[in-house]
Amino acid sequence: MSQLEGRVAIVTGGANGIGRSIAALAAGQGAAVAILDLDREAGMREQSVLVDAGFTALFRQTDVTDARCVQEAVALVTEELGPVDILVNNAGRNVYAEPVAMTEAEWDNVFDVDLKAAFLFAKYTLPSMIDLGRGAIVNIASLHARLTCAGMYPYAAAKSGLVGLTRSLALEVAPHGIRVNAVSPGYIRTALVDEYFAQNPDREAEQKALGVQPLERIGTPEEVAAVVCFLASDAASYVTGADWAVDGGLGARFA
Ligand SMILES: NC(=O)c1ccc[n+]([C@@H]2O[C@H](COP(=O)([O-])OP(=O)(O)OC[C@H]3O[C@@H](n4cnc5c(N)ncnc54)[C@H](O)[C@@H]3O)[C@@H](O)[C@H]2O)c1
Repeated sequence: MSQLEGRVAIVTGGANGIGRSIAALAAGQGAAVAILDLDREAGMREQSVLVDAGFTALFRQTDVTDARCVQEAVALVTEELGPVDILVNNAGRNVYAEPVAMTEAEWDNVFDVDLKAAFLFAKYTLPSMIDLGRGAIVNIASLHARLTCAGMYPYAAAKSGLVGLTRSLALEVAPHGIRVNAVSPGYIRTALVDEYFAQNPDREAEQKALGVQPLERIGTPEEVAAVVCFLASDAASYVTGADWAVDGGLGARFA
């Protein structure tokens, strides 16, 4: 499959978990891929894996919350790989704050990673997409944008904001031939979900989570990557402003 042939894709948080699968699938579908992540060791490893497999890929250590760092990373990618026409805002963090004890600094960090970063990357990649007259942005939100659970305050607020940003940006850039969509995963087996189970005071949390899955299992990063790469491709040419659930049906469940 080469549905992303000739495209230049940025995947934030592409060194691990869902982002790593997105980067690998996009490269396999023909895109030149830039992995931008804080995790230098994992990022360098992923770059080697992709380059050794014959794909075009680079890693740049990047803090997605730092506007200057983002601007420099986008400039480097443009110089090395060409103008960016696919942006996947995937870097994210969980949060388990207590609403009274949470500090303003903690609040700001959550919103910087889970929401502001998507604005920063859009701000610095849109000029090249507008010049090209095409582009696709995919924001990795969460089922928490629509439904949530106690103990993850205020993750749902940041992810709901990201879905709102998706709609708003989609309308702003549609006249330039640029599409903007969100993907909202449910439970996906990564370090983030392992951390969620590990910090949960309920020792049965993992079993209970499994017990409510309509498909009777937790999803894989590859299953999210498949939807992201579809949305980034011309196969989704009439899809914009949408939020695609990849949650095994959990968001459809009432009882
Ligand atoms: N795993 C799930 O069940 C699940 C469910 C819903 C949504 N999500 C979302 O999917 C996305 C990916 O999650 P994951 O499960 O793969 O997590 P992960 O922890 O495995 O990977 C996240 C990556 O983001 C990077 N990152 C974090 N903060 C960063 C920063 N400031 N600058 C640059 N990179 C940074 C990390 O280094 C890591 O490589 C996140 O946005 C998350 O909220 C995950």
